[in-house]
Amino acid sequence: MTGWIPSPGLEHWLTRGGDSRIELNRQGVNGYGYPPHPLQHWHGFGACTASAISPLAYEAARHLHERLPDPLPPESGLAEWQRIRARFMAWTHLDDLAGLRLVLAASGSDAHRLAAWLTRNQSLQTWVSVMADPAETGSRIPAMLQNPGEAGHERLQIIPVRNADSHCRPSAQVDADFEEQIHRLQREGHGVRLIGLDVSKTGRVIPEAATVFRIRQRYGPLVPVIIDASQFRLSAAELRRYLEADCLVIVTGSKFLGGPAFAGALLIPGSVARERMADPLPTSLVSSRSEWPDDWTGAGTLPSVCNRGLLLRWEAALAELDQFRQLPEAGVKAFIRHFTATVSDYLTCQPLLQPLDTTPPDATPSGILPFLPKNPRTGMPLGEADTWRIFRALPRSGFSLGQPVVCGHTRNQNLAALRLALSASLVRTGLTHPDQVTQWALEGLEQVVRLIKDLNPAAR
Ligand SMILES: Cc1ncc(COP(=O)(O)O)c(C=O)c1O
Repeated sequence: MTGWIPSPGLEHWLTRGGDSRIELNRQGVNGYGYPPHPLQHWHGFGACTASAISPLAYEAARHLHERLPDPLPPESGLAEWQRIRARFMAWTHLDDLAGLRLVLAASGSDAHRLAAWLTRNQSLQTWVSVMADPAETGSRIPAMLQNPGEAGHERLQIIPVRNADSHCRPSAQVDADFEEQIHRLQREGHGVRLIGLDVSKTGRVIPEAATVFRIRQRYGPLVPVIIDASQFRLSAAELRRYLEADCLVIVTGSKFLGGPAFAGALLIPGSVARERMADPLPTSLVSSRSEWPDDWTGAGTLPSVCNRGLLLRWEAALAELDQFRQLPEAGVKAFIRHFTATVSDYLTCQPLLQPLDTTPPDATPSGILPFLPKNPRTGMPLGEADTWRIFRALPRSGFSLGQPVVCGHTRNQNLAALRLALSASLVRTGLTHPDQVTQWALEGLEQVVRLIKDLNPAAR
């Protein structure tokens, strides 16, 4: 492991300014099981949920922590966020997109609330967010979308993406349901927004990007679109295409990038920014002045305090982004394909595991591989409770997975998939040592198989 210098002051702040899940328990780990410092000999495949901070990211955050005064005066906070915004825009090649604004948020979920408020036309009383099954996104997101801090009625229209047996519904059917529901709700006079996922917790794009663009073309500003790209697994070109189509896009620094948990951001296209930047922001949005661009006059209603923890977490995530952006895109795609093919073969051949989905041969894999652990006695997928027991029994010292996701149900229990996910730093290693990264993943899966055998689940 490359060097890092322990800093209790930094670690204090890394665990502040989010919700209770980033605070440390008596064992010194957060709600995701990670400490606020790097781990030795750790090959984490849990980046679709959370990661341990890398030495590189820790050092970047430590340097900023030591440079900043404590307490941080609001004007220094504003200047630091401006620097972070400028870097993000340059490193994602978005700095030439006219009028684009970046707002920081404590998490991807918090960014959903900001986006819901910004896409709400005050003249309509009822708003409906049309979205995929909430199991495919963050657990707090339905609540965030239904409570964007204003009077008026908000509700969700859920589009199922899987059958009860956990198999994906054909994407043409899912997308047709999105279009049909949007059309119906629009005709009935409701305010409608589309929440797209690129990608979901299990690595799916819902609805397909082509469908999103068709909806944009058909309805224009009448149906605003929020793309939940919290996993941040889309290419710079894909991100740009959504923004050019006037979609709001949510990303985080804490999933694929592998920064510390709780670092969200919302990209707001120029057309939306122009329309909304003078509207006073309600304080119930839980945001502060410095997280909004200087010229966003409506943010003058927000508290001037700076969320130092969030600032340090984004500094850490940007250190990872800086490394990742320097990798050749073709090499990155080739490695993710190679890794996905090798691990999928293992999952298919291992009798106690079963891949949840198959990636079509022409699609670029997301780097998230969901799979179901199976009952050794019956050969059927384990229930959710047993899957969580396996997840919790995984020693967090050397290997980790993403949290289980409910993906179907039988007559008496839910089915939940475990997820093996690449992070930016694993991809970086994989470009020079592909077999090493694949071997870490396969060794980890063998631990999962051992845990399934030890679990001795009841035959159901
Ligand atoms: C697709 C997706 N969207 C949103 C979220 C929520 O992000 P956060 O944990 O930063 O609130 C998650 C969390 O895993 C996610 O997977």
